[in-house]
Amino acid sequence: MTAIKNVLAICGSLRQASLNAQLLQATEKVLDNRAQVSWANIADLPHYNGDLDGDDKPLPVTQLVAQINGADALIIATPEYNYGVPGTLKNALDWASRPAFKSCLAHKPVLLMSASPSPVGGVRAQGQLKQILGGTLSHLCPVPEFALGGAATKFENGVLVDSETQKKLERLIGDFLAWLE
Ligand SMILES: Cc1cc2nc3c(=O)[nH]c(=O)nc-3n(C[C@H](O)[C@H](O)[C@H](O)COP(=O)(O)O)c2cc1C
Repeated sequence: MTAIKNVLAICGSLRQASLNAQLLQATEKVLDNRAQVSWANIADLPHYNGDLDGDDKPLPVTQLVAQINGADALIIATPEYNYGVPGTLKNALDWASRPAFKSCLAHKPVLLMSASPSPVGGVRAQGQLKQILGGTLSHLCPVPEFALGGAATKFENGVLVDSETQKKLERLIGDFLAWLE
């Protein structure tokens, strides 16, 4: 019997009605009893500042690092802002990335996804994330990009209602869990 995995969900959007948060919630349901999911809080992180990155780090930073350390894997769902990674998410990854190459992100398995009302589904932000997470020596789950286009039409009252997307998500999570073994 395989051990239950601890998965940390990180949403690149802080918006209450975030489509990416809804996608992560749908993912949590698909994971069901195969993983324990916790959610990272990246909203309270200060802007990265090397002067604050000493022995006495801001509490939201130590909390995020502890969450990442305690997770077997991360699932990051992000919007694309102006063809790139939202600053809030980049800031969180910058905090978590220190010390370079030996941080909590080094060798951490990561699954990426994105959602956008646009047809391309935020895939360009994922391209940037791959490069960033290459710099942190994280291990990216080797799957084709899961980029949910037209996302605003796929949820109703926060629940994924598009059966095609549901099937694709189930396949993705199956592949992800198999890869984690
Ligand atoms: C500053 C800003 C820039 C955006 N740039 C893009 C973009 O480049 N590509 C895209 O697909 N959507 C873009 N959008 C639209 C977002 O994809 C859309 O607002 C999405 O719902 C945000 O994700 P969320 O629902 O998880 O908050 C942008 C939105 C904002 C606020």
